[in-house]
Amino acid sequence: MDFAALPKLELHLHHEGAAPPDFIRRLGQEKSVNLEGVFDEAGNYAFRDFVHFLQVYEAATAVLKTPEDYARLTTAILEESAANGVIYTESFISPDFCGGGDVGAWREYLAAIREAADAAERAHGIVLRGIVTCVRHFGPEQAKRAALCAAETAGDWIVGYGMGGDEGKGRPRDFAWSYDLAREAGLRLTVHAGEWGGPRSVVEALDDLRVERIGHGVRAIEDPALVKRLARDGIVLEVCPGSNVSLGLYPDVARHPIRMLQEAGVRITVSTDDPPFFHTTMAQEYDALHRAFGWEAEAFAQIARTALDAAFCNEDTKVQIAKKLETA
Ligand code: ADE
Ligand code: ZN
Repeated sequence: MDFAALPKLELHLHHEGAAPPDFIRRLGQEKSVNLEGVFDEAGNYAFRDFVHFLQVYEAATAVLKTPEDYARLTTAILEESAANGVIYTESFISPDFCGGGDVGAWREYLAAIREAADAAERAHGIVLRGIVTCVRHFGPEQAKRAALCAAETAGDWIVGYGMGGDEGKGRPRDFAWSYDLAREAGLRLTVHAGEWGGPRSVVEALDDLRVERIGHGVRAIEDPALVKRLARDGIVLEVCPGSNVSLGLYPDVARHPIRMLQEAGVRITVSTDDPPFFHTTMAQEYDALHRAFGWEAEAFAQIARTALDAAFCNEDTKVQIAKKLETA
């Protein structure tokens, strides 16, 4: 099967995490940023474990200093995604990295990203929408600034609010103020949970942040009552199998719980998370799922329909994407 040709929606992609190593290296040279420790000898991103991954991620992100840098990054990301058959992407964009949480600076970064996204849509047909993201290990006060940026720019393009970062730091309820503000601004909500935190982290995310999607969420499989709850309430999981395998959560895709979750009635979608870090692409994710579980075009079409239903964009955009799915 030509996996690149299947039309895909991606709901879980970190903007900085999608930066190709060459892109970061080139920008680092232009700006004379020391990138020691970021790459291995082969030129790939180098990290030992999850916490080290987050450190390397932030070191690489340090080269992205201006709105123009983010515009260039956006172009690079969307060209790669479009080449993988992605027709709709929601990416996590963090005011912490785009202006340090200042609303005025954030607006400038956002304008540059949107301009690049509009150009990519004209060139490749791919549609991008943004989810403002706070970083858990930066703490609740910084998250409030991110939520204020999100609330100020909420609309048809900034459509959601989320949180990534180190699940080992703090508790979901520490971030309830940010999530309440984002919800009141009309944003749809997701949060990373059940990746490094166990099933309890998913329960707390649902109870304390009242999200409708969970980033990862796969460790819910360890609690049958929680799996039933996810299925009953139609909570959508943004599953990133290649990311989980690369970071050592599961030994391989065949032993990843995505199929068990799906068979238990949980609504699952497929994303890459930080594709160059994890040596993956959307086409490779589909290929790996096909090899591990024998999933064919119909299974992938179902995943695309679930993602379209769970997307945070407005109805007009959904109709536009649905037409593309139908004609593909
Ligand atoms: N930031 C970027 N990628 C992440 C991941 N997989 N988990 C948590 N935070 C992240
Ligand atoms: Zn993620």
